[in-house]
Amino acid sequence: MSPKIAILGAGPSGLAQLRAFEAARKAGLDDIPDIVCFEKQADWGGMWNYTWRTGLDAHGEPVHASMYRYLWSNGPKECLEFADYSFEEHFGRTIPSYPPREVLLDYIMGRVEKSDVRKYVRFNTAVRWVEYSEQTAKFTVTVMDHDKGRLESEEFDYVVVATGHFSTPNVPEFEGLDRFPGRVLHAHDFRDAAEFAGKRLLLVGSSYSAEDIGTQCYKYGAEEVTFSYRSAPMGHDWPDVFSEVPLLTHVDGNTAHFKDGSTREVDAIVLCTGYQHHFPFLPDDLRLRTDNRLYPRNIYKGIFFQDNPRLMYLGMQDQYFTFNMFDAQAWYARDVMLGRIALPDFDTRNADIESWRTREEALSNPIEDIDFQAAYIRDLVDPTDYPEFHVERQGEVFKQWKKDKKNDIMGYRNRSYTSTLTGTTAPPLPAPWLEILDDSRESFLCNDFEKQSKAGPGEKVVTARPDRLSTPSMQRPAAPRVAAKV
Ligand SMILES: Cc1cc2nc3c(=O)[nH]c(=O)nc-3n(C[C@H](O)[C@H](O)[C@H](O)COP(=O)(O)OP(=O)(O)OC[C@H]3O[C@@H](n4cnc5c(N)ncnc54)[C@H](O)[C@@H]3O)c2cc1C
Ligand SMILES: NC(=O)c1ccc[n+]([C@@H]2O[C@H](COP(=O)([O-])OP(=O)(O)OC[C@H]3O[C@@H](n4cnc5c(N)ncnc54)[C@H](OP(=O)(O)O)[C@@H]3O)[C@@H](O)[C@H]2O)c1
Repeated sequence: MSPKIAILGAGPSGLAQLRAFEAARKAGLDDIPDIVCFEKQADWGGMWNYTWRTGLDAHGEPVHASMYRYLWSNGPKECLEFADYSFEEHFGRTIPSYPPREVLLDYIMGRVEKSDVRKYVRFNTAVRWVEYSEQTAKFTVTVMDHDKGRLESEEFDYVVVATGHFSTPNVPEFEGLDRFPGRVLHAHDFRDAAEFAGKRLLLVGSSYSAEDIGTQCYKYGAEEVTFSYRSAPMGHDWPDVFSEVPLLTHVDGNTAHFKDGSTREVDAIVLCTGYQHHFPFLPDDLRLRTDNRLYPRNIYKGIFFQDNPRLMYLGMQDQYFTFNMFDAQAWYARDVMLGRIALPDFDTRNADIESWRTREEALSNPIEDIDFQAAYIRDLVDPTDYPEFHVERQGEVFKQWKKDKKNDIMGYRNRSYTSTLTGTTAPPLPAPWLEILDDSRESFLCNDFEKQSKAGPGEKVVTARPDRLSTPSMQRPAAPRVAAKV
């Protein structure tokens, strides 16, 4: 009998799982399992769905999104490409290497919209609890269906957890924050850089959120940006209004005090202090406990829960690679569920986990991290029919990206890279990233990138639909660093 499978979450990881089964169907598999994907949001896309909301959604569920307006990809799209669906296939032409959020969402959605998989997803349905019975060897999944307004339970043979891990904020306490007269928020609740135009901003943290929110706020007119680090500064060659200081110790009025005794007057504080792996719907004996790292313990192949491998986790690693890594995991998980790949016994799985973990613990720099994650993906891809996408060559692109960032933190998004699928080198952005204030999909895609790349110096380029630039939201930045060229 065909197994019954629950997929929890319809973000890129959950969609990868749906797509993996769809690919098997297209390749001739008749007996497709009975699949239900539970998604608490009204649409699919996961983290890539922007919402103005913070706190709770319309149904009283915690808002999932941590993405904000004006977010652009922070890695080259050539490293994110699905092996079975290139950017060129989706857009019908080449586009620059760093697209804004809406354009990436369009790409992610394009692949699933062309498949017949939406029918599997139950939207507005939040997973409340998952239980496993040793007697029946089945999971009972209890969900709150907000459309019907009631709790429902259903039995499954397999559960795939794809609920993401960049949504529940890690919020440390600092003395004096309760009396700070300005805004204090976690990166999860950050939405609009324009709010901080003309402000002196303190960002606690020294990873991607701090770096990106700091640069966004600079782009939209922040007066001063201070990063406060716990372990190490980012060390980029920042423009003059940026500085990096040791960890915040306390706040007194508008004055922030740091470990080295230095102080800064600040108007707003954003805690860019990362996220927790949070699974409130899982009992202790099924719950993955890990911090944000490349190889969490207790999941074989980074997927199968050691104590019960019928429970799978997708996308729980820290991420250089994203969409194609989720695909690699989903194809492998599919083949296990279809009985095409047999899992070894507990001890053999444990030895495999430990050997990867030992390798991971020996990593000492980002270059080694990238090679490690590429090797992990290669290990998953080879036994399945996921198409070849040259993950090691994509790793080289990531290494170049690291160098480009180091050389020019404000300008790295102006660079172009070559797709390992099509061999095409991306055209450049039509203007420097720092100058493009309108990041809407319509404005981005109305550019003729190829033609613009051949335009001579001083020739006029289109970086935004003129009507968009006259809308109030685009005029709002009080003092954007540079005016958008139109
Ligand atoms: C600010 C930010 C910027 C990022 N930028 C990039 C980038 O530029 N490039 C890149 O490749 N990656 C980026 N990422 C990483 C991003 O997390 C991944 O690209 C991707 O979204 C992960 O996919 P996922 O499906 O694993 O998780 P998510 O996208 O988080 O999706 C999880 C899904 O599960 C649903 N869900 C959660 N709990 C429940 C529940 N109880 N019941 C039902 N449904 C539930 C959620 O609603 C959501 O739809 C960024 C992340 C953040 C936080
Ligand atoms: N597309 C984009 O532009 C974009 C933008 C933002 C985020 N993202 C993605 O979002 C994901 C999450 O990134 P993230 O930066 O939020 O999380 P992260 O990479 O896990 O980094 C967390 C940061 O918080 C610091 N921190 C944690 N606890 C702290 C404490 N108690 N006190 C002080 N500092 C503390 C950590 O310091 P230590 O170094 O000391 O541990 C680290 O610098 C990444 O995958 C990233 O790619 C992408």
